[in-house]
Amino acid sequence: MMIQWFPGHMNRAKRAIQELVSDIDVVIELLDARAPFSSCNPLLQSIIKKKKKIRLLNKSDLADPKVTQAWLEYFQKQKDTIAITGDKDDKKQKNTIIRLCRELAPTRNSFEKPLRVMITGIPNVGKSTLINQLVGKKSAKTGDIPAVTKANQRLVLADDFLIYDTPGMMWQKIQFSQVGFHLAICNSIGRNALDEELMAHYLLNYLKVAHPEELCTRYKLKAEDMFLADNQLLNQLGKKRGCIMPGGVIDIQKASEIAIQDFREGRIGKISLETPDMWERWIGQAQDEEKSVALEEEKSNEAQV
Ligand code: G4P
Repeated sequence: MMIQWFPGHMNRAKRAIQELVSDIDVVIELLDARAPFSSCNPLLQSIIKKKKKIRLLNKSDLADPKVTQAWLEYFQKQKDTIAITGDKDDKKQKNTIIRLCRELAPTRNSFEKPLRVMITGIPNVGKSTLINQLVGKKSAKTGDIPAVTKANQRLVLADDFLIYDTPGMMWQKIQFSQVGFHLAICNSIGRNALDEELMAHYLLNYLKVAHPEELCTRYKLKAEDMFLADNQLLNQLGKKRGCIMPGGVIDIQKASEIAIQDFREGRIGKISLETPDMWERWIGQAQDEEKSVALEEEKSNEAQV
């Protein structure tokens, strides 16, 4: 299943970022540490490609630390990029980010030539929370509804340091089904684009292979339950969590919501949905598929001639 979600205000977000980018010295792109590739919007990359960047793998408190380390190394290899982890409760984070921004644009250091930092990222990745932390007051609106921040906003961190908040921008076209699922599971896609049951199937299918112990512990499941089909496993989870409707029928919607919410809040464990290796593999598969489709088309064109 492909999840597609690019509402009208995302076009406005794209325009707002395009207008601003030429006057920006450093871009801080927030990625979700649990799904860094999925949250790294290709549309945004084309807009900010010539800029110095800090890739902040945010919500790292919820992600698998080993996988996050692999992602840091992956992004660190990219041109003009510093990759660091982000965690809203890290007290040192503010100073680290300010220091790195200043290092990336050392000549922008006066009232006349202030450092201009743009903060970007997909909806709900934590932009407003970070801005509040940097500016030191509740200056940006936070919330758990994707795409709360709607227009560029300029904030003054110091006389020589300006921050530009941009609207959350989503992928224009999601080419990989995994991306849609990962963004939805991490709560970056509006609710009306979602089917929670399918999301829960996807999540459980991943967890039973990648994190079976955590899954068993959280829902008091047995090791043999990890061999159940996704719908049976969801049923089992519903039973364990008391999602029973009149007549003893399992409330699958409720069970699905529990699994997704538990993941989002880190109650199953520190879990990452994707690794750099997984992505290299998926991209390779997609390229192979594209090639074979092109070959088929070529063959059928030749047959028609
Ligand atoms: P946005 O501007 O990019 O749309 O995101 P926003 O800052 O509104 O953050 C979305 C949610 O993510 C908020 O949760 C926020 O607290 C949470 N968040 C931000 N950074 C981190 C982080 O480093 N770790 C974790 N675990 N969560 C983070 P919320 O439930 O909507 O609000 P609240 O519980 O903070 O009130």
